Amino acid sequence: MNIKTILIEKANAAMLAAGIPEGTNPAVTQSTRPQFGDYQINGAMGAAKALKTNPRELAQKIIDNLDVSDIAAQTEIAGPGFINIHLKPEFLSASLAAANKDAKLGVSEHQPAKKVVVDYSSPNLAKEMHVGHLRSTIIGDSVVRALEFRGDTVIRQNHMGDWGTQFGMLIAHLEDLLNQGVDLENVALADLESFYRDAKKRFDEEEGFADKARDYVVKLQSGDEHCKKLWQMFIDTSVKHSEEVYEKLNVTLTRDDIMAESAYNDRLAGVIDLLKSKGIAVEDQGAQVVFLDELANKDGEPSVFIVQKSGGGFLYSTTDLAACDYRSNELDVDRILIFVDARQGLHFNQVEITARKAGLLKDKTTYEPSLFGTMMGEDGKPFKTRTGGTVKLADLLEEAVSRATDKLANRDSGLSDEERKEIARKVGIGAVKYADLSKHRTSDYIFNWDTMLSFEGATAPYLQYAYTRVRSIFRKAGVDSIALNAPISIVEPQEKTLALKLLQLEEVLDLMINEATPHVLCGYLYELASLYMTFYEACPILKDDVADDVRDSRLMLCNLVANTLRTGLELLGIEVMEQM
Ligand code: ARG
Repeated sequence: MNIKTILIEKANAAMLAAGIPEGTNPAVTQSTRPQFGDYQINGAMGAAKALKTNPRELAQKIIDNLDVSDIAAQTEIAGPGFINIHLKPEFLSASLAAANKDAKLGVSEHQPAKKVVVDYSSPNLAKEMHVGHLRSTIIGDSVVRALEFRGDTVIRQNHMGDWGTQFGMLIAHLEDLLNQGVDLENVALADLESFYRDAKKRFDEEEGFADKARDYVVKLQSGDEHCKKLWQMFIDTSVKHSEEVYEKLNVTLTRDDIMAESAYNDRLAGVIDLLKSKGIAVEDQGAQVVFLDELANKDGEPSVFIVQKSGGGFLYSTTDLAACDYRSNELDVDRILIFVDARQGLHFNQVEITARKAGLLKDKTTYEPSLFGTMMGEDGKPFKTRTGGTVKLADLLEEAVSRATDKLANRDSGLSDEERKEIARKVGIGAVKYADLSKHRTSDYIFNWDTMLSFEGATAPYLQYAYTRVRSIFRKAGVDSIALNAPISIVEPQEKTLALKLLQLEEVLDLMINEATPHVLCGYLYELASLYMTFYEACPILKDDVADDVRDSRLMLCNLVANTLRTGLELLGIEVMEQM
């Protein structure tokens, strides 16, 4: 259920009947203060300007034609022509009751469902996953969960980097170690970072090694069995490392979602032929280049997009063009979402313009590189280890859990060691995820252990704790929350505010899905938890003098709060617990 959408439809009809041209924005918003009602229709002002008439009179005409008797108790005009809508308590009660019964909490399925490719995580397999992959992985995963919750069909694609020129050097090094009889799993590839470093050192210093490495890339890319076998060994190990991180992170990606760069190998030559035949790519110093006037600099020089190296090698860009073709023309999707670092913004602009010109991306498909900012250390520089190295994601997550364990150690909770361990895991991982997801995707943010693990403010521990508090009421009351089915009546202002917030989940999810911005859901859950605390202070539930029907009505609200917090956190990939 989406109150905003209902009002938009009703406002559109009323505006049309009031003689306002079709397509005029009704500008429906949530009211910012109770005295302005619950929602506002603000479209009269814009429409009056276009029609050169009086906005208040036009607002009155809209109201005269507005049929909201089923949901609103009162409407009025305010200021220069705002229309305030006060929802009916009975409408709120009925909607809350419906949400309470529904496994999806009243959130309806998208009609018609969209087909969406989501390209996320996508680490380079030459090295181990580092913190740079955290954002893509968890932002992408929460958007995927929300899309599926709304009923869209999602095709996850982990566009792993497994095909670049470094792989020649890596397999040449691997071959030598295997010949020396070194154990692959436990020694050679136990630490991908040092393996990479050793290979690179040989590449830079050892006579003949670089030539062999280059030769192996060419062989690999043209299907040589021996090189392919070595490469596969390396990839298998590296993928296993990633899978361990996904598991720790509670991310939904599996091996089946891997659609790595190598998967496009057979299409690359065709892409270049197409670009050449259409005159989109031209030769420049031996390379194939697309000159893009659309992205010209301020001196009018076109942006240069290289799609094939001199000597014939294909590039990251070629692969992304082939991916457009596959996703749009073959999978026939409506949307392509790609979660990448903001520094790749230009690359994806170049890809989209080129792909559209060449017909590799059809009009129906939207191309949405969803860029994110950098995770910074306390010093305001990109997050690094003390010695200036890149932080392995696996290490960061381990530290999160150990810090959460310390933080929870002194609580007198009566829980077993096993339970405590599980709680610390959920809190630690949840804290890292919420701290990241709650920042606007496009901004840089400073990584701070103390803030993210705090039980105060907008953090995962605060929300997880809020959830356990709501749930504890049912234990105290001895009431089974699932069996509970009582009429809800909305009387006190704190009940009203809480009720309205509960009914806005679908609006929030739509915003998150459309803009690929999980921070709106993070903010919503924090507001919900805070409104619950206010309600809890003002509206007694289990005190002796509370009438049974009032108690049960409030318990119904509590139940929906708990379910909304749990579902919302799950959509962020954050787990809850019954006690902590
Ligand atoms: N492997 C790339 C990196 O680590 C990200 C790939 C994103 N997806 C894509 N289709 N290019 O930066």
